[in-house]
Amino acid sequence: MKILYVASEVAPFSKTGGLGDVAGALPAELAALGHEVKVVTPRYASIKAERLTPTGHHLELRFPFGTERGPILSLRPSPNLEVLFLENQHFYGRNGIYGDAFGEFGDNHRRYAYLSIGALQAAQRLGFTPDIVHLNDWQTGLTAVALRRAYQATSLGRAKSVLTIHNLAYQGQFGKDIMGDLGLPWELFTAEQGLEFYDSVNFLKGAIQFSDALTTVSPTYAKEIQQPEGGASLDGLLRRRQGVLSGILNGVDVHEWNPETDPHLPERYGADNLAGKAACRRELLRRFGLSPDTQAPVFGIVSRLAWQKGVDLLLEVMPQALQADIRFVAVGSGEGRYEDGLRTLQHHFPGQVGTFIGFDQGLSHLVEAGADFFIMPSRYEPCGLNQMYSLRYGTVPIVRATGGLVDTVDGSMDGDGILFEAFHPAALLAAVRRAQALYAEPERLVAFRRRGMSRDFSWAASARKYERLFASLLTQ
Ligand code: ADP
Ligand code: GLC
Repeated sequence: MKILYVASEVAPFSKTGGLGDVAGALPAELAALGHEVKVVTPRYASIKAERLTPTGHHLELRFPFGTERGPILSLRPSPNLEVLFLENQHFYGRNGIYGDAFGEFGDNHRRYAYLSIGALQAAQRLGFTPDIVHLNDWQTGLTAVALRRAYQATSLGRAKSVLTIHNLAYQGQFGKDIMGDLGLPWELFTAEQGLEFYDSVNFLKGAIQFSDALTTVSPTYAKEIQQPEGGASLDGLLRRRQGVLSGILNGVDVHEWNPETDPHLPERYGADNLAGKAACRRELLRRFGLSPDTQAPVFGIVSRLAWQKGVDLLLEVMPQALQADIRFVAVGSGEGRYEDGLRTLQHHFPGQVGTFIGFDQGLSHLVEAGADFFIMPSRYEPCGLNQMYSLRYGTVPIVRATGGLVDTVDGSMDGDGILFEAFHPAALLAAVRRAQALYAEPERLVAFRRRGMSRDFSWAASARKYERLFASLLTQ
């Protein structure tokens, strides 16, 4: 099959969260299965152009606000896989992916219209006629709309579109004036069949309406988003489309996340030889200015500091949890209130708490390796990758029973992690206490670690599911 894969972030080139990880791994896996895959993504300023090869092709997109042009650059990680970077100084030549210290960029509707429409034009320019156009989140929503409207009569018109929803809460909602700004036909501004959502424009809604198939990143989340509590006001539409909606669990990039080979760690280790994990733990504590020789259990988080992630719950519980002899290290960035909350916690518990506010890939690996427990008290979690990284690194995850966390962590007595149900301080505190009890039983703890490390979260199985879905669309 020929697959055009469109994503607003692709690791290792750009990443703000799990979407980048997925877009960096799944296309490669599909290519390894023998499919011809082209990934289209912006060339953000942080991606050095010297690494890329010009294709000699340019985009030219006409909008009412002006004509936007830019070259298409390329990188070929493997014979079947090409990553195409859309260059546009005006849209992507600044620091930040979706925003900067002042907030979201005010022209994101234009920036992602350029990506969405540009991806289709890029395919045409390169003479690539995809069977499948695979889209990710609201940033690529207009691709699905354009494919059915503007591109129906072109060679791309035969392609089937698949939208993967990584997070239903981010919908790409804009004031209706952007219809005119982007030159979108007003007949699309309807609630029933179009982009209209409470008198505003909703890119994700458009994609849900116009895509041939919908997936989300875990089976449990696929059910949750069809309920009012998890549906972010789109549950009605998703229920209507449930016949084409399925959940396919994300995998893990097992080359990047492997404690036996990880270059970010001071020592490497595996399930049969956990000694190196102790060295990682010491290095982790040292890096956070905590005494490296303590026997106390170390709890860690690595997270976007957003409402979704339940950082507020954690901040509420930690002062009490820290009355016991435990350590807590946090790596995260995001909303100011949570960043401040973590700093304050460290201030009140010096010697027990270490925080790093910012984005640091190396440090995220060290936390996964060096912590004893990894906490994810998410309000909702479409899939979640960190708990899978934790399991692979022999770090016992403590997770709330929601979305993909339920589908990946075995919270039974002889499982590999600790699950708690209620989004409530008492429930999280009880889970931390259960972790401390487990820590006090070294043999049981090692058994937990080993079971986690033996789980198979490689992309192969998930990629096969996407392949089957694509194949079924093509026979329709
Ligand atoms: P989400 O995509 O909702 O943020 P995931 O668990 O799917 O959640 O993926 C998060 C990814 O982003 C993981 O690879 C995690 O290590 C990484 N990450 C999040 N915050 C940071 C940070 N501050 N520094 C480094 N990596 C981070
Ligand atoms: C989103 C979700 C996260 C998921 C990731 C990759 O950012 O919040 O749960 O793992 O996408 O699909």
